[in-house]
Amino acid sequence: FSFPKPINEPVKAYAPGSSEKSSLKKALAQLSSEEWDIPLVIGGKEIRTGNTGKVVMPHDHHHVLATYHKAGEKEVQMAIDAAMKAHKEWSELPWVERASVMLRVAELLSTKYRYILNASVMLGQSKNPFQAEIDAPCELIDFLRFSTFYASQVYADQPYSETGILNRMEYRALEGFVFSLTPFNFTSIASNLNMAPAMMGNVAVWKPSTTAIHSNYFLMKVFQEAGLPDGVVNFIPGQGSVIGKVVTASRDLGGFHFTGSTSTFNTLWRQIGENLGHYKSYPKIVGETGGKNFIFVHPSAPALDVATAIVRGAFEYQGQKCSAGSRAYIPASLWKEVKDYVGDMLKEIKMGDVQDFTNFVNAVIDEASFDNIMSYINYAKQSPDAEIVFGGNGDKSVGYFVEPTVIQTTDPMFKSMVEEIFGPVITIYVYDDNKYEETLELCDRTSPYGLTGSIFARDRYAIDMAFNKLRYAAGNFYINDKPTGAVIAQQPFGGSRASGTNDKAGGPLNLIRWTNARCIKETLV
Ligand code: SER
Repeated sequence: FSFPKPINEPVKAYAPGSSEKSSLKKALAQLSSEEWDIPLVIGGKEIRTGNTGKVVMPHDHHHVLATYHKAGEKEVQMAIDAAMKAHKEWSELPWVERASVMLRVAELLSTKYRYILNASVMLGQSKNPFQAEIDAPCELIDFLRFSTFYASQVYADQPYSETGILNRMEYRALEGFVFSLTPFNFTSIASNLNMAPAMMGNVAVWKPSTTAIHSNYFLMKVFQEAGLPDGVVNFIPGQGSVIGKVVTASRDLGGFHFTGSTSTFNTLWRQIGENLGHYKSYPKIVGETGGKNFIFVHPSAPALDVATAIVRGAFEYQGQKCSAGSRAYIPASLWKEVKDYVGDMLKEIKMGDVQDFTNFVNAVIDEASFDNIMSYINYAKQSPDAEIVFGGNGDKSVGYFVEPTVIQTTDPMFKSMVEEIFGPVITIYVYDDNKYEETLELCDRTSPYGLTGSIFARDRYAIDMAFNKLRYAAGNFYINDKPTGAVIAQQPFGGSRASGTNDKAGGPLNLIRWTNARCIKETLV
């Protein structure tokens, strides 16, 4: 029995005057006028601890969207217990029944809750309507639908049996629970870090990012409405260090599913390492972490395409996609033309509140992020090795706004050329046209990461050289396209080196990590 291959959820355009635009506007007005009180959800029950924090709109940080309750050590343990209580029934349920719940979540988000989810992502995470649309609902729905399809293939994969023997593989769930630590930048990823393991019969303890709690809580409610049994996913916002400590000390930790910074991933991996011997099984660790994604240009490339890739690849969602381009290598012969095009495009770009749909750029996620991004820009302003070509200003009085910024440097090891910033900043290194090959080598060795990257060229030999020299520099390698915008089931996403374990979210490689296979041999006597 196998599922038909789904198609990607169609993306709505929210054109002026369209009914979908007015539905979204209505949802935005509704959420802007409410202030939610967000509890923990443990074993299906709402729990309010009274230790609270605020959720604000990044583009208007005086506007409070919600108060949320934080888990303490006691609630983390309760969440683990609730997950383990749900483990037996959920993991033993026929997989099609689990798939049915996943598909129901997808249906609810594609229809009944489409606009409210989009509005929640727009307001809580400061995405324009089009960026919110491709994240949640669309990518989130794709993750769910394609997971059921790929799961059907995983379960169908059975060994060969000689006459007189029956060999079988049973793809059991992990014996313990999965700890999912999810990021702010994609609500789709937050969903998938729970639902991919759940598809394979696992139970999860979910610590959402503090800055994405609004949409993540809404999602938790939809999981419940779709019939996800109590305890299969337990929602516990709170302080990462408190939650991480209790979770990694649990004998029942079966897996860790992560998207976020390299340093947080390393900290948790070390904590798990310190507890080895204490766990029932070796926990499976899957993580997608940082990046320093490149746009590499050969002299044969069309300048307009390069400029488009810089503007869209570096500045969409304020550069806060893990895939965002943040360093570019451009040959001297093309730089002026590329720069002129980028300048023309930036003149057309507006920055501001998400509720004005003509704003391409909105706010960065919070004050810490704003201050960090501005520190890189200010460093470049004061350095003799760099100049600000475009942008360079920030204002956090109303919202956390940072102008799309292009830095040019003469030093390929310049700070913003090698460190991840996670904001709307790209640094350009202009190289001598005759040094294509050695600049490729430079690009490969100057970053510890290996997430995404683009090569722009018309010359096929140049493309092939980049393909080989940058073999491990990007898990998602783009030829003549921007390094962002991977679509589920079309460009399986993930990188290696300091960018993670490269288990390709949304595909069979990832799903298999959430199984604990048993091989059964039966002699047919
Ligand atoms: N999948 C996203 C992209 O490719 C990043 O997480 O842009």
